[in-house]
Amino acid sequence: MKILGIETSCDETAAAVVEDGTTILSSVVASSADFHIKTGGIIPENAARKQVEYMIPTLLKAMQGFSPKDIDSISVTAGGPGLIGSMLVGVETAKTLSLVWQKPIVPVVHLLAHVYANFIETQNSTVKTNKHNSKLKTNTPHFPAVVLTVAGGHTELILMKGHGDFEIIGSTRDDAAGETFDKCARILGLPYPGGPSIAAEAEKFKLQSSSLKLKMFPRPMINDETLDFSFSGLKTAVLRKTEENKNLDRSWIAAEIQEAIVDVLVEKTLKAAKKFKVKNILVAGGVAANIRLGEIFKSKIETQKLTVNLFVPPPKLCTDNATFIASYAFFNNHPMKLDKIVAIPDHMEAIKIYANNKSK
Ligand code: KG4
Ligand code: ZN
Repeated sequence: MKILGIETSCDETAAAVVEDGTTILSSVVASSADFHIKTGGIIPENAARKQVEYMIPTLLKAMQGFSPKDIDSISVTAGGPGLIGSMLVGVETAKTLSLVWQKPIVPVVHLLAHVYANFIETQNSTVKTNKHNSKLKTNTPHFPAVVLTVAGGHTELILMKGHGDFEIIGSTRDDAAGETFDKCARILGLPYPGGPSIAAEAEKFKLQSSSLKLKMFPRPMINDETLDFSFSGLKTAVLRKTEENKNLDRSWIAAEIQEAIVDVLVEKTLKAAKKFKVKNILVAGGVAANIRLGEIFKSKIETQKLTVNLFVPPPKLCTDNATFIASYAFFNNHPMKLDKIVAIPDHMEAIKIYANNKSK
């Protein structure tokens, strides 16, 4: 089954054709991120205008070599998190195609779709098997699984018992992890998007002094009983520290910020895996592209002697693209009538309307 995916939730315009939810036949991503560097972050109106500009060329490129009759179904990001102006461009494009081509359309919640980057086959397999239990070796994730989905617009822990059978077991009470990277980067004078720039800056520090313990900043809620996160205090601590001492080495601060965010993400995810006794951990979202996140996961899994399989998609599939939108639609194939599909930026609201959750 060939599904055309369309993704326009924020500053990426993306289209992809994916076969049976796992094989990428085409994937095109046009990003307006460079444009937003000038403003130090995204101005929604600007992002929406760029979506309009990029949508048709992106679609035509992704459809090269295919005709509409090759496509079985259309999937589109209709649920957030997302910016309403950006989302509308994808949703209305998908609805128009559905009408003209006479194809069913599956509305997709962006937050949940990120998870499906773990189901897409890639040349460099993403599986990292814990050496303590080789029997767990596997190429595709199995359920039940705990998913850490971390991006600019969301930070959630999800317990997945199957496709379309999930429970949100933890979320951020304020800023998302990616948003924290972005805001801290701004404080340090590093370019948008902040995650990759902080990671690159931190790498310089690592090269200089790898033996130093990175404990400058608090790990908010790390020992808290719940599986929730809070990152706004960390951002404030970074602001205070940099105002108090303007001569601190920027790469050191960047390494400290990265370590604090990643430490909390890993600790809470492992806590969830133990609590629900699951053997599969899936990481998803733009922040999953962070190399240090994978390193800390691996080292804590080893030191705690946990028998879990860790899945991290390749960086290209972690950040926004349309392959995981199409993959989600294959594994959760619930088409809806055109007049029922609207852009819903709030992900919790969108989940209620589009997700068809079996556990509810
Ligand atoms: O999934 P995504 O492309 O868009 C949203 O759904 O939000 O994630 C974008 C976020 C940004 O906040 C960006 O700074 C962060 O992911 N990000 C990273 C890395 N690459 C992207 N954060 C940390 N390390 C990275 N390498
Ligand atoms: Zn995303």
